[in-house]
Amino acid sequence: MQPHKASSVTSLLLIFLHCLAAQVSSLDTLKQGDQLNSSSQIVSANRVFTLGFYTPQYTNNSYLAAWYTERSHLPVWIGNREKPISQNTNPILTIDTTGKLIITHGRGGESVEIYAGESGRNLSATLLDTGNFVVTAVSSNGSAGEILWQSFDHPTDTLLPGMKLGVNHRTGRNWSLSSWFDESDPASGAFTLEWDPIVRRLLVRRRGVIYWTSGQMKDYYVDLGNLRVKEFENIYPKPDAFNLNYNFTNVTSDDEEYFMYTLLKVPNWTPDNRKVISGWKLDYQGDLYDNERPMIARPSLCYGYNTEGNAVYTGCERWEQPTCRNARQTFVLRSGNFRPVNGRIVNSVYDINSSLSLSDCRNICWNDCQCVAYMHGDGCEYWRGKNLVFEQSLDGSANRKYVLDTAPSGKANRILKSMTGMKKHVKIILVVVSTIVLLIFGVALFIVRKLKQGKREEELQELLTLEGYTDDNGGGKSHDLKLFTYASIQSATKNFSSDYKLGQGGFGPVYKGKTAEDQDIAVKFLSRQSGQGLLEFKTELILISKLQHVNLVKLLGFCIHGDDKMVIYDYMHNKSLDFFLFSPSKREQLDWQKRFNIIEGTTQGLLYLHRYSRLKIIHRDLKPSNILLDENMNPKISDFGLARIFKQDISEANTNRRVGTYGYMAPEYAMQGIFSVKSDAYSFGVLIFEIVSGRKNNSFHEIEGPLSLVEYAWELWRKDSALELMDPTLRDSCIIDQLQRCIHIGLLCVENHAVDRPTIEDVILMLKNEMTNLPMPKSPAFISRNSVVFKEVEKSAPEKLSANELTLSEIGGR
Ligand SMILES: *[C@@H]1O[C@H](CO)[C@@H](O)[C@H](O)[C@H]1NC(C)=O
Ligand SMILES: *[C@@H]1O[C@H](CO)[C@@H](O)[C@H](O)[C@H]1NC(C)=O
Ligand SMILES: *[C@@H]1O[C@H](CO)[C@@H](O)[C@H](O)[C@H]1NC(C)=O
Ligand SMILES: *[C@@H]1O[C@H](CO)[C@@H](O)[C@H](O)[C@H]1NC(C)=O
Ligand SMILES: *[C@@H]1O[C@H](CO)[C@@H](O)[C@H](O)[C@H]1NC(C)=O
Ligand SMILES: *[C@@H]1O[C@H](CO)[C@@H](O)[C@H](O)[C@H]1NC(C)=O
Ligand SMILES: *[C@@H]1O[C@H](CO)[C@@H](O)[C@H](O)[C@H]1NC(C)=O
Ligand SMILES: *[C@@H]1O[C@H](CO)[C@@H](O)[C@H](O)[C@H]1NC(C)=O
Repeated sequence: MQPHKASSVTSLLLIFLHCLAAQVSSLDTLKQGDQLNSSSQIVSANRVFTLGFYTPQYTNNSYLAAWYTERSHLPVWIGNREKPISQNTNPILTIDTTGKLIITHGRGGESVEIYAGESGRNLSATLLDTGNFVVTAVSSNGSAGEILWQSFDHPTDTLLPGMKLGVNHRTGRNWSLSSWFDESDPASGAFTLEWDPIVRRLLVRRRGVIYWTSGQMKDYYVDLGNLRVKEFENIYPKPDAFNLNYNFTNVTSDDEEYFMYTLLKVPNWTPDNRKVISGWKLDYQGDLYDNERPMIARPSLCYGYNTEGNAVYTGCERWEQPTCRNARQTFVLRSGNFRPVNGRIVNSVYDINSSLSLSDCRNICWNDCQCVAYMHGDGCEYWRGKNLVFEQSLDGSANRKYVLDTAPSGKANRILKSMTGMKKHVKIILVVVSTIVLLIFGVALFIVRKLKQGKREEELQELLTLEGYTDDNGGGKSHDLKLFTYASIQSATKNFSSDYKLGQGGFGPVYKGKTAEDQDIAVKFLSRQSGQGLLEFKTELILISKLQHVNLVKLLGFCIHGDDKMVIYDYMHNKSLDFFLFSPSKREQLDWQKRFNIIEGTTQGLLYLHRYSRLKIIHRDLKPSNILLDENMNPKISDFGLARIFKQDISEANTNRRVGTYGYMAPEYAMQGIFSVKSDAYSFGVLIFEIVSGRKNNSFHEIEGPLSLVEYAWELWRKDSALELMDPTLRDSCIIDQLQRCIHIGLLCVENHAVDRPTIEDVILMLKNEMTNLPMPKSPAFISRNSVVFKEVEKSAPEKLSANELTLSEIGGR
């Protein structure tokens, strides 16, 4: 009895092991007769992709979908986008005996064919690590045969690396993306992304009309490693040697014409261990973005006026416009209602037609001169009428709708307006005189410049060679960093005149200046010993100067004079955010739209620093005075990378030198010197509160009550009155839901534990996607002035800059 029992146990075990082995080996493949149901999945060999049934939020529909294993909420491919299956009917994917790849489901529903099949052949379907789901014929000798069908030939809304966009002349097949219908319906929507092989550009169309183009694909030479890559004028971010970037390919042959991208691997760089998740998704509003990266293009901002809705994302096409609209008009999502006219409520009209998508509603409303607002539901809802007044609901309780908004006219318009009041001949004289003055001035400027330029260049060239600082030794530009002479800086800043002093930064004073070439510059001293040799200093600066992003201030050059080191930046005409935000008279100039734009731009710049630049920079001193504003009030982060100069081993995330400002530093950084992307997230949270409230974080002097803005925000949030944080000057311009969301995000960013804080990517998603449910904030950290922590820090801090602002540096340096 005993031996028999033992052997049966063994055989059971063997069977079990066998089953296990069989299951593991076939995890990525569906064989003829296998069944995939809603509780099982296929996973590619290296676990990069998963295929299974997916149910979008707020629906009961089931779709066959593929997704990055780590991103189960973001399908990159849908097999049955036009034919959803009810989740409750137990869908099953199988290759049936006739060789069809089909989804069958219970209750006698009609089955959905994915691939029509080839009967008489032994088929199998495999999910590859590229995300391609391929059906192959197994030949009689057991080897995998030709590909009969593949999901890459049937793209939905996402272009994965290696996927083609274009045409196959032999099969007549077009590869193009088409957006989802809306957020939770994968059916084909209004937008498509196509490859135009003739001009060699990408196109986004809305119902056939070209909305946006990428501009022609051009060669781009990346200096480091002699790389030749391609770029598009309107696709961001641009390639540069320090970015993990896109490698664009066009193929033109007799059979095929297509576009494809892969991720660029720069030689001589240690491979990036981080798994890169990339896929260009065309969303239902027409925007194009990549999973982990900044947005690529924003066609949703296009209204047909060829305006640059946002200077960052251009490429809008022009199309025919109704005469009643103008370039300053857009629709914005707001909560509120129209003021009753003669005591009668303004009623909306419905067009119950379920094939109309959100962008169709916008389009119809835009083309209807009486239409002032729209909303999308089961069809479209419109508000029409003349001189209607929209009353925004400040607590966000009223229904939301897209309301026609006319941006205030710029300065030029205002001058023109004030001129309309004048008599005609006065106007003409004014125009003529000012034109002549301008002309003379321009010519004089030109002559002076030309004269100075020659001399200046000579001088600089001489110095560069003297310093043994030579440019590249053959073709291609190496870097744009200039070496400025001390004399030129002296003359540019009128010998560091106090009139030219812009302020005191964490590293030393900052001056503004005008170079001999008439360029406005900002000169920043780095007077402290950095413990670095000159060569290292230069190398570091050259690296930092390669970081280029529209939301980062441009580093122009540097100057060395004895122990003094200076870095020279582009001068920003609107100074910095604090200059506006904390000035009672200037604050009003920052309406909500501008402030939100500043928040968004700052996140894009930070994302670039954290993720997208090869140097993976942690800023460590993010605050309003480091957010500079250009003439259009676009934010540009400054002082990035300076912390690197004071710290060589960047990989070590624990430092004895703390560079940062009290009030903006995360607790773990202030206390233990541990910095990470999450400590920047903390500073960003504080920044959001300051932007929303117009108050400085450390402007609280009450004996009792909150000691900091963070604490105050948290108190208000707990009392359910977060909106009280709002700067009163925002009353008319603010979009309540957006503002509330910003406060919420701010609270998440200042969580006490770094793990609870969102990354900048998360923040971008939260800012953009107004539907996502944000987690509730747990316990924010406020380092109050009275806390033990701060006292310790204060004791060891070498210098105080002002009563309110203490900059820490080199605390406890060894
Ligand atoms: C899916 O299939 C597995 C085995 O193939 C089975 O154990 C499971 O009960 C099935 N699930 C459903 C929901 O039918
Ligand atoms: C989904 O199904 C559940 C139960 O069958 C039902 O209560 C719910 O209303 C359905 N949801 C939708 C969006 O149809
Ligand atoms: C298997 O058969 C195919 C044709 O059906 C042939 O091309 C291939 O070389 C064969 N492989 C082996 C290993 O014999
Ligand atoms: C199909 O091929 C697989 C692998 O060679 C084999 O295990 C299976 O039995 C074949 N199925 C049929 C129906 O021939
Ligand atoms: C592919 O696109 C081209 C140009 O847009 C069009 O002329 C052609 O009919 C399309 N072919 C198919 C099969 O859709
Ligand atoms: C890309 O397009 C250009 C211009 O049409 C062509 O000269 C080049 O050969 C194409 N590249 C490939 C790989 O086909
Ligand atoms: C870019 O992609 C093409 C086509 O896949 C490849 O041949 C080339 O080596 C890639 N270039 C780089 C620098 O990765
Ligand atoms: C619904 O809208 C579509 C797209 O605009 C249009 O083609 C269709 O005729 C409309 N259907 C009805 C019933 O009005």
